[in-house]
Amino acid sequence: MKADNGIALVDRDEQGIDRAFRADVLAGLRQQQKAIPARWFYDEEGSRLFEQITQVAEYYPTRSETEILEKRGTEFADRIGTGRAVVEFGSGSSVKTPLVLGAIDPGAYVPLDISGDFLRESAAALAEKFPGLPVYPVEADFMRRVQLPDEVLPLKKLGFFPGSTIGNMVPRTAVDLLRSMRATLGADDGERPMLLIGMDLVKDSEVLEAAYDDADGVTAAFNKNLAVRINRELGGTIPLDALAHEAVWNDDLARVEMHLRAERDITFEVSGERFSMREGQTIHTENSHKFTRRSANTLLLAGGWTPEARWVDSGKRFSLILARATEQREAP
Ligand code: AVJ
Repeated sequence: MKADNGIALVDRDEQGIDRAFRADVLAGLRQQQKAIPARWFYDEEGSRLFEQITQVAEYYPTRSETEILEKRGTEFADRIGTGRAVVEFGSGSSVKTPLVLGAIDPGAYVPLDISGDFLRESAAALAEKFPGLPVYPVEADFMRRVQLPDEVLPLKKLGFFPGSTIGNMVPRTAVDLLRSMRATLGADDGERPMLLIGMDLVKDSEVLEAAYDDADGVTAAFNKNLAVRINRELGGTIPLDALAHEAVWNDDLARVEMHLRAERDITFEVSGERFSMREGQTIHTENSHKFTRRSANTLLLAGGWTPEARWVDSGKRFSLILARATEQREAP
């Protein structure tokens, strides 16, 4: 897979092993508190399992956010106006993206994704649903500034980042991403772009933990699939039967953490390197930060975005925030 600039986005060695995946896993397993970045969940099976998670009763975020998108179309249209290029960070979902595009009569749709396969699929589906809407998929890592296609440069921009995916990042990384989004959307070229971003809300820990530990075990399977992937792609010998899924609310850091916990002392190999875990020791696999109205606003402001409007679903579980790139001279 090659990006616009000709650089392959997935860098594989002679044996076809994803170098970044291996480096992240090995570095993460060497730490005292073992940890692997959540982005590695999403191989084919992981993406399928995540789709399944969005259907389980306990996982409310997708339903709550979709409810907002369905109900508030007129308000989006009033505040956002027509003719903007909608730049989606991550491949569009078949449900959420059409709701936004249908509400605001955009000038173009630009999905950005690191996976060319998802990107082409969702771009084709969207183009079919909105005949006449120019669609320009860009294969890129949106954690950095992305060069948008020349055709959309004259248009005003709306960034779209649904799903509370921002919650997967620690604040430091989330701020870096928000600043990259400003750069991608041309915040310093005069026009002040807008951003429509989903941010899940702090609520009872029982509700939060259940959302990440559903009774059917779909989230457990999603979590364990990371170990399955390591065994398959990196010559791992992790004993899967010794790992248990764990979802815990960390109240100090306002996040649900997912871990894989060793239920007995184990040793295993990954890429020829030996690791051991004592009973009770965990591999930290995901953070899902939750926000209050104020913490969401503070994070956005830290990343260079001024909140202008906010909507929550009828169950008050999830928020969707419309922000505008902050003017440099705004602060006293
Ligand atoms: C896709 C990042 C929004 O954190 O809620 C769902 C991923 N992990 N269940 C989330 C996820 C476990 C999800 N995001």
